[in-house]
Amino acid sequence: MTGDREQLMAAPVGVFDSGVGGLTVAREIMRQIPNEKIVYFGDTARVPYGSKSRDTVTRYSRQIVRFLQAQKVKAIVVACNTASAYALDELEKEIDIPILGVVKPGAKVAAEATKNGKIGVIGTEGTINSHIYATYIRQINESINVIGKACPLLVPLVEEGLLKDPVTDEIAMRYLNELIDLDIDTLILGCTHYPLIRSTVGKIMGDKVTLVNPAYETARELKELLFAEGLLNQKEMSLGENKYRFFVSDGAEKFQQFATSILKYGILSAKTVNIEDY
Ligand code: DGL
Repeated sequence: MTGDREQLMAAPVGVFDSGVGGLTVAREIMRQIPNEKIVYFGDTARVPYGSKSRDTVTRYSRQIVRFLQAQKVKAIVVACNTASAYALDELEKEIDIPILGVVKPGAKVAAEATKNGKIGVIGTEGTINSHIYATYIRQINESINVIGKACPLLVPLVEEGLLKDPVTDEIAMRYLNELIDLDIDTLILGCTHYPLIRSTVGKIMGDKVTLVNPAYETARELKELLFAEGLLNQKEMSLGENKYRFFVSDGAEKFQQFATSILKYGILSAKTVNIEDY
């Protein structure tokens, strides 16, 4: 193997989200491909993306991709459903390193999981109004019925740390009741924050509904993609070697606390970046 190739394989994977939610995806990458370095960017100054327009989300995503490329990443994971829905197609055309979103992998797993052909998707307004999950699912099987439900209040509840709280139960119940009546057998957690309230959603939907967390399949597909491109890092990596680096556009301390609570690895520090410079 040439030195250049080895250097490329050892380069980090860039992962970005509108804020903290993408850490659920980063966590899965850390678990499934532990030899990969990660540079994570959370756009905490401009979150939420879920209520913003396609143009705005695409502009923000472009800036973040430029920042990650400046960190010499070898591949990028768009760990945000809204950015995957709105910006991924554009970004794919603009860069020459592999880039992967969370929507396609989630859609694939859900299409495989459903038995009665009725899939529910919960996500932000942007993700649901884009009908992106339905588009991908119907490319796999056009007879599947996909029912979307925007659940915008669940994001701030998770960010407030109300993961197991009667208020979250109540709000989730109001959103999900509609889907229970429609007899879905599969539900996609189509927003980065929702895996953190998986047990609440599961309790409301009952055992007969399979919950799909796109993060799992995204990490699996990333591994396959890196392997196929000859980019999978073969060398063992210990935590000390600057393995996981975190950047945000605001509120580094708050981010650090949240990240520490959900990543078993903990994080050393998060740095603030002026993303408008990119
Ligand atoms: N990360 C976003 C998503 O997965 C949720 C938070 C937001 O609205 O920015 O769609």
